[in-house]
Amino acid sequence: MKLQDKIALVIGASSGLGRASAEACAAEGAMVVLGDINEERSKAVIEGIVAKGGKAKFMYTDAMKEASIVETIAAVAKEFGRLDILVNSAGAPTAADEAGWHFQIDMYLKAPYFACREVLPIMEAQGGGSIITIGSLSSVTGSLAQKIEGTGYPAAKHAVLGMTKTLAIANGKHNIRVNCVCPGYIKSELTRPLYEAEDGGAKLINETLKVPLRRWGEPEEIGKVVAFLASEDASFITGQAILVDGGFMAR
Ligand SMILES: NC(=O)c1ccc[n+]([C@@H]2O[C@H](COP(=O)([O-])OP(=O)(O)OC[C@H]3O[C@@H](n4cnc5c(N)ncnc54)[C@H](O)[C@@H]3O)[C@@H](O)[C@H]2O)c1
Repeated sequence: MKLQDKIALVIGASSGLGRASAEACAAEGAMVVLGDINEERSKAVIEGIVAKGGKAKFMYTDAMKEASIVETIAAVAKEFGRLDILVNSAGAPTAADEAGWHFQIDMYLKAPYFACREVLPIMEAQGGGSIITIGSLSSVTGSLAQKIEGTGYPAAKHAVLGMTKTLAIANGKHNIRVNCVCPGYIKSELTRPLYEAEDGGAKLINETLKVPLRRWGEPEEIGKVVAFLASEDASFITGQAILVDGGFMAR
């Protein structure tokens, strides 16, 4: 139980990497607040956590709305008197058009920015904390987008890594660690159209991308890394891009 008595907020927690992060933090003893727009799916995740003896609750949070993020973080601080762990994992598919470009910046850069801005003073006042942003391979390399309108995702994901490193430098003195998990190709709602292709996405993994481990990653393989980074086991790790990608970036 490495996160006993810790209070965690996972934004985008009803599915995929956020769900797995919430479950992994709860399994280590944290009280996990699931901030999401999908209440029904979040409640199902909470049922699973509680069935295993964990603690979790839902707070409606729309990552696309600054006021909603502000409200949730204030509510967590009010109810629990602290906030030890923040995980930013909201995501949704969008079109590779002009509106989609702005959507990606709002979802993957501005939402983590607002959340970090709100939790940092709380963590500073309580003497520390751990923030985990979810980046991507697109935080460290360009994407396969063909049109300029498709650059929103890598632009936001590069930027969130830059923000992560900068916040780590600025807040180390307050015992606040800030790291960015950069997943490779992981099975989630976001990637379902890819791995539900006729060949199970095998051609993409084995031929196009040549992922060294020759398989898709599972959300739990991200959740475990998030829980590690949140814990004291990672007490000297901050400002890092942690690639969890089956070896893709090793080439
Ligand atoms: N799956 C991958 O292969 C992969 C790879 C690299 C990075 N990522 C990143 O992981 C993060 C999570 O994606 P995922 O793959 O788990 O997708 P997912 O669709 O399975 O999960 C996304 C979660 O965000 C929630 N969400 C959507 N819109 C929201 C909003 N407006 N406010 C709050 N919550 C909202 C959804 O309800 C869901 O719980 C994203 O930042 C994504 O870019 C995923």
